[in-house]
Amino acid sequence: KRVLSVASEAVPLIKTGGLADVAGALPAALKGQGWEMRVMIPAYRGILKKLKSPKPVWESESLYGGPARLVLGKTGGIEVLALQADHLFDRDGGPYSQDGRDYPDNAERFAALSFVAAEIAREGAGKWQPDLVHCHDWQTGLVPWYLRGTGIPTVMTIHNIAFQGRFGRDKLAALGLQTWDFTREGVEFWGDISTLKAGLVAASAITTVSPRYAEELMRGEFGMGLEGVIQARAGDLHGILNGIDLDVWNPETDPEVTSFSAAKSGGKSKNRKALEAEFDLDVPGPLAILISRLTPQKGIDLLAPALGPYLEAGGGLAVLGSGDGWAEDAMRDLAARHPGRVGVKIGYDEALSHRMYAGGDAVLVPSRFEPCGLTQLYGLRYGCLPVVSAVGGLADTVVGATPATEAAGASTGIVFHPVDDLALRQALMKLIALYADRKGWAAMQRRAMKTDWGWDGSAARYAALYDALLAR
Ligand code: ADP
Ligand code: GLC
Repeated sequence: KRVLSVASEAVPLIKTGGLADVAGALPAALKGQGWEMRVMIPAYRGILKKLKSPKPVWESESLYGGPARLVLGKTGGIEVLALQADHLFDRDGGPYSQDGRDYPDNAERFAALSFVAAEIAREGAGKWQPDLVHCHDWQTGLVPWYLRGTGIPTVMTIHNIAFQGRFGRDKLAALGLQTWDFTREGVEFWGDISTLKAGLVAASAITTVSPRYAEELMRGEFGMGLEGVIQARAGDLHGILNGIDLDVWNPETDPEVTSFSAAKSGGKSKNRKALEAEFDLDVPGPLAILISRLTPQKGIDLLAPALGPYLEAGGGLAVLGSGDGWAEDAMRDLAARHPGRVGVKIGYDEALSHRMYAGGDAVLVPSRFEPCGLTQLYGLRYGCLPVVSAVGGLADTVVGATPATEAAGASTGIVFHPVDDLALRQALMKLIALYADRKGWAAMQRRAMKTDWGWDGSAARYAALYDALLAR
């Protein structure tokens, strides 16, 4: 059984967030479930060079104003179909923007990706034709729409409903849409086009990346205007938690860190020392870390008003992130005001992130909404206990310390609610108190490190869903 997964990023080729981790991990996870998955992504600059035994399997003289071909190749054990269309994808900047500004032709760029994916689903390429297409986020929302009426099953996964693929009505023709597609039942969304909505309306099934987020999405508070569309399809909506790659994220074998494990935890303190040195810190109490895109979603603005008492009580913080200018400035400002206690590195650094999970005592994730979240899962695995807001996948994966969960020996972190600076301040003071009980803390760390957030369970759920759709 074959499935084509279409996404705008996938590890190890291109990553801006958790979507890439998931798109890159699914093929291996599904193999054990009897599904062969190929991943289709745009050939951004430099991607083709990373593919082993590249081979063209499809081409077109003109795709949105230039030549295009699909190159099949291998990397890191996954089979990739890279869509080469240099006029659309071979650019200086990131996948979606350059210098903080979205490319003006993003509608066309990802419509092109979606168009070719639908074509491969219908016709096949290189003697390979999928039985089903799995689409991720707004960039691929037009795939289910293009495949309506063909009988080819499609799955639309929402990784983040904040990104909706919203474009002016004047783009209808450019996206291969007709005026009669532009209705409330169709691609129209508050007077614009939404490619995500197109996918949600047309897909055979919808999934999102945690059970809690699946429930939240039906409420105005989290649905971001699409709650009605999702409510209408509640029977076809599934919340399936993301997994993590237990080989890449393994503190026993991670080449970036001094080895440690739940049973042999000694290495953890060496990693913490190294991390303090790397960030120029000298912290008597717990050392928290934050690794994140710096955007409003992630609750970054809550840090400054919440940190005071925690820092006074001996806590410290190391931040790695990049994103909105105001947030980067706010982080630099925090470090300047608390030398030796708050360290900040602005940028994107995968290797450093490993050293931070290994050296940190706690990972802060004060998100306003979080479809799944991966950083808390990496934290659990590395004994870097999550301090999280009670939303989405954070609420589904962390057992907050309360009298009840502690009596039951079940807590793996700190969960706070509501998502505001007062609750975060209290959570940080709880971190101080829990950390001071060295025995209790060590027990909680061991528990966290033993929880299994690998892909097996969730891959089986995806496979069961695919099977059900095929049998329909
Ligand atoms: P999102 O996809 O919303 O950004 P996730 O928690 O699902 O949130 O995934 C974020 C991923 O990106 C994690 O793998 C995290 O470690 C990584 N990450 C985020 N910011 C950075 C950074 N500045 N440097 C290195 N890795 C980062
Ligand atoms: C999105 C979400 C994040 C999720 C990731 C992968 O970027 O913000 O919560 O973990 O997608 O599904």
